[in-house]
Amino acid sequence: MGAVITGWGKCRPPLSLTNADLATLVDTDDEWISERTGISERGICHVETTDMAEVAAHHALAAAGLSATDLDLIVMATVTPEISCPSNACVLQERLGAVNAGAFDLNAACSGFVYGFASATSMVASGVARRILLVGVEKLHFVLDYRDRNTCVIFGDGAGAVIIEHSDEPDVGVLGVDLGADGPAGSTMVIPTLGTRGELSTFRDPSMHRLHFEGQAVYKIAVKGMTDSVTRALGRASLTADDIDLVVPHQANLRIIKAATSRLGVPESKVMVNIETHGNTSAASIPMALCDALDQGRVAPNDTIAITAFGGGVTWGSVIFRWGDRVARLQTSDATLPAPTGDVFDVLAANREFYSSYHEENSDSSDV
Ligand SMILES: CC(C)(COP(=O)(O)OP(=O)(O)OC[C@H]1O[C@@H](n2cnc3c(N)ncnc32)[C@H](O)[C@@H]1OP(=O)(O)O)[C@@H](O)C(=O)NCCC(=O)NCCS
Repeated sequence: MGAVITGWGKCRPPLSLTNADLATLVDTDDEWISERTGISERGICHVETTDMAEVAAHHALAAAGLSATDLDLIVMATVTPEISCPSNACVLQERLGAVNAGAFDLNAACSGFVYGFASATSMVASGVARRILLVGVEKLHFVLDYRDRNTCVIFGDGAGAVIIEHSDEPDVGVLGVDLGADGPAGSTMVIPTLGTRGELSTFRDPSMHRLHFEGQAVYKIAVKGMTDSVTRALGRASLTADDIDLVVPHQANLRIIKAATSRLGVPESKVMVNIETHGNTSAASIPMALCDALDQGRVAPNDTIAITAFGGGVTWGSVIFRWGDRVARLQTSDATLPAPTGDVFDVLAANREFYSSYHEENSDSSDV
């Protein structure tokens, strides 16, 4: 019995932070960001993580023609949970009224959706669950420093969701999986906050709050990690790169995507990219890109799809799977976020204020 995607949806927040906007915040320009990353703009969320997850979930449920009460499990992949307990998946369960569903959060950083997909499809294939809502969602701007040009230009906010159900069709579902981690390399990508480390304090330390990565080290880990991981997953599926109809990679950086897929020997025409308008949205990037691929008619019935990611941990993962027979939504939803009351600079004002004294003390030259 195969486990297939029967519904899909996304929530890209309405507020955009363009490269030109960023150039008013830090010492950067559109040319540098576009050439090094392929990103022109990214979504910035004016509400909460679970609000984006809820919108994406409504679209996915409608596409599958299901009600929330049909779900028996909700899995949410995120590194930017709204709160740590209850889990964000439980908050979403309440919002949706998914009273028959279990719910838990999963953290594998940017690999979260791939880890979640491997877990959820296994649970459906083994009969543990019949209908699972898997959401990848991030409100990354909350852990970024919009006075640090090294990190703030890369990331965006958003949510993507899929419904995974069993299928009686022959030869569909997961064909090969590869999941891995390298804890000793974990210091290359860190969000030190949102955990219990340290003493209780009323003071939040900016240096302990902001996301940090070592750009060039991560770049190398990413290209090698995704290439090797897809190769292993293909081997387990007894397939080669020629058998792949579409790769939907984690949207980390356009150069990373191009380097990894070219090493695999997959032509650009078979690689889904939407980083230009979405930025790197960590666990949300693959389900949002998958959604766009379906909307653009780039997925055909019974296509062989590869999803692949790397991320903090360090983690990596790839799943090769065969799509089912339906690539059109059964129904649509009009779910949307509430309209913002201000602009993107209003959303980032508190962030700029928070990091002001930190950069004065550390005399960071990237601030403008
Ligand atoms: C971050 C990344 C785009 C930087 O590209 P790069 O080619 O490695 O650039 P470098 O780090 O070598 O920096 C080159 C120069 O540009 C500068 N620079 C960095 N960010 C800049 C910005 N936003 N605008 C302008 N200049 C910038 C650097 O200070 C450096 O200047 P210097 O040569 O005077 O020291 C790239 O390393 C990358 O994508 N890494 C992976 C990051 C990632 O995916 N993270 C997600 C997982 S957490």
